[in-house]
Amino acid sequence: MKTIKDISISNQRVFFRVDFNVPLDEYQNIVDDSRIRAVLPTLKYALDNDAKLIIASHMGRPKGNVVPELRLSPVAKRLGRLLGKEVGMAADCIGPDVKAILSKMKSGDIILLENLRFHPEEEKNDDEFAKELAAFCDVYVNDAFAVSHRKNASVVAITKYAPISVGGFLLQKEIDYFKKVITDPMRPLVAIIGGSKVSSKIGALENMLQHVDKFIIGGAMANTFLKSQGYSLGNSKVEADHIGIAESMKKKADQNGIKFYLPVDAVVARSLDLKSEIKIVPIQEISSDWMVLDIGPATSLLYSEVLHDAKTIVWNGPLGVFEMEPFSKGTISMAHCVANSDALTIVGGGDTDAAVHKAGETERITYISTGGGAFLYLLEGKILPAIDALEKAERKIR
Ligand code: 3PG
Repeated sequence: MKTIKDISISNQRVFFRVDFNVPLDEYQNIVDDSRIRAVLPTLKYALDNDAKLIIASHMGRPKGNVVPELRLSPVAKRLGRLLGKEVGMAADCIGPDVKAILSKMKSGDIILLENLRFHPEEEKNDDEFAKELAAFCDVYVNDAFAVSHRKNASVVAITKYAPISVGGFLLQKEIDYFKKVITDPMRPLVAIIGGSKVSSKIGALENMLQHVDKFIIGGAMANTFLKSQGYSLGNSKVEADHIGIAESMKKKADQNGIKFYLPVDAVVARSLDLKSEIKIVPIQEISSDWMVLDIGPATSLLYSEVLHDAKTIVWNGPLGVFEMEPFSKGTISMAHCVANSDALTIVGGGDTDAAVHKAGETERITYISTGGGAFLYLLEGKILPAIDALEKAERKIR
């Protein structure tokens, strides 16, 4: 992939598509600005090279309407503080007023366009909308890994109309780290896959079957696998229509010599109510009106032993209902374990990222992806539509 380093940007209007879809609290305060910090190297490089910076992002899912709570003004403020420079905020992302503001830009100026998803055309990958955005720039830079799995106008169609399209440093870094996990990993490669549904991870599990040496399974999706092995899970969440798939996946792993680890004990409760009684039981002893809400301590110990010789670890999905303190221990102890490992460790997905933050282990993980859906898309072995579009556009500059 060609990056911003491969082209000349001095005095050029450079359009940066970034993913500033950051969590806000009810007062519009940014709760976590990691996604903003992650693109600073690209933006600083552009500033150092005297470009004019036009920045665009989506925020939330306004479904083509103007939703005041999803305006990007809090982001403009935070970005300005992080860059130590004023960031101008446009009232829209297209239209004559925006065009007029952008036409007055000088080298080193920064303008953040308003939420792209206030226009329904963005998510429809609309050509006319993409043309309007592309007309603002001399160079288009995609540094929005986290939305690169979406066929949206500002990451896909725009590359047909921008004079030059390249990737930013964050996009490059995400892809490079991912390649280290999949294409040429140091072995043993262990994948820790959690989360609530087998159905949302089937693609990733199937693809990873071709790459990993060991699977560690947790979260409610482990229930479906356990059910397929004949265990009684009481009132636990089980995807009845995926028991067969879980069984055949486990069989395939066994046939391919892949070690496949499932919980051996669990933290169970009668309900998610915090006042409800909680206990730890072996997986063979889950009574009919109890539900599994976390892995138990014996499982945590087992999983830490599974990781002891790992050279590469990829982790997606929590191992229990980690947002609730009594059911967070399995996921938090896994975060410590991954952080303590000497392996190359890569974590992806919003919940997993949040768990690593909660455990205070962000600094000791080799790489935390900014992507949730995009990370899963890669785990599924698919080519991100935005990367595909960039590569097609690149042929124009060869
Ligand atoms: C994300 O948060 O995963 C990205 O910003 C993409 O958002 P979306 O799932 O609303 O497309």
